[in-house]
Amino acid sequence: MLIFLWAEGHNGVIGENGQLPWHLPADMHFFKTVTTGNTIIAGARTYRSFGRPLPHRQNIVVTHQAAANFPEDVIVLNSLTAVREYAAAHREEKLFVVGGAQLFIGLQDDVDWLYRTVIDANFTGDTWMPVIDYDKFQLVATQPGIRNDQNPYDYHFEQYQRR
Ligand SMILES: NC(=O)c1ccc[n+]([C@@H]2O[C@H](COP(=O)([O-])OP(=O)(O)OC[C@H]3O[C@@H](n4cnc5c(N)ncnc54)[C@H](OP(=O)(O)O)[C@@H]3O)[C@@H](O)[C@H]2O)c1
Repeated sequence: MLIFLWAEGHNGVIGENGQLPWHLPADMHFFKTVTTGNTIIAGARTYRSFGRPLPHRQNIVVTHQAAANFPEDVIVLNSLTAVREYAAAHREEKLFVVGGAQLFIGLQDDVDWLYRTVIDANFTGDTWMPVIDYDKFQLVATQPGIRNDQNPYDYHFEQYQRR
């Protein structure tokens, strides 16, 4: 199954200068918890922002570049069609599409689940989540985030399943 996993601020902002617009360790912890042991699928820019393949999960990068440009244990897919074929062949697995915007735009009609962290704050940015048609999804879980010195925003976690 294909799952979008992302965090957004006001107006759906998700990125700035190739990085996240915020520092929110609780969300990074959530990301690690849900993706560990599963598969993450990242666009080349988002993959680059990690700085290395993320450990203890299958890393897939979507790029026009050759596989030789990436570490051997990274699966390189050269098109969204290749992502769809991979997803069809791994239906029982949790495949987390972790961005960025280019992948979220291109795979909107294919995604089965949405895992969204909503951050109730304004950030400047240069990358936004595409407008999702939430009528096509049902909110099945929501969990408040804990605001503290390290995580100085109001935020919560949501999970939606395609209807
Ligand atoms: N807040 C969040 O949850 C979140 C999540 C993820 C990312 N982000 C942020 O979003 C920004 C990155 O997003 P982005 O949209 O600019 O980039 P992106 O989607 O991560 O990567 C874009 C790259 O992916 C490859 N690509 C995209 N579509 C393709 C296709 N159909 N076939 C083959 N390759 C394809 C291309 O790589 P090549 O040029 O190598 O061919 C393209 O340049 C960063 O600021 C990042 O930190 C935020």
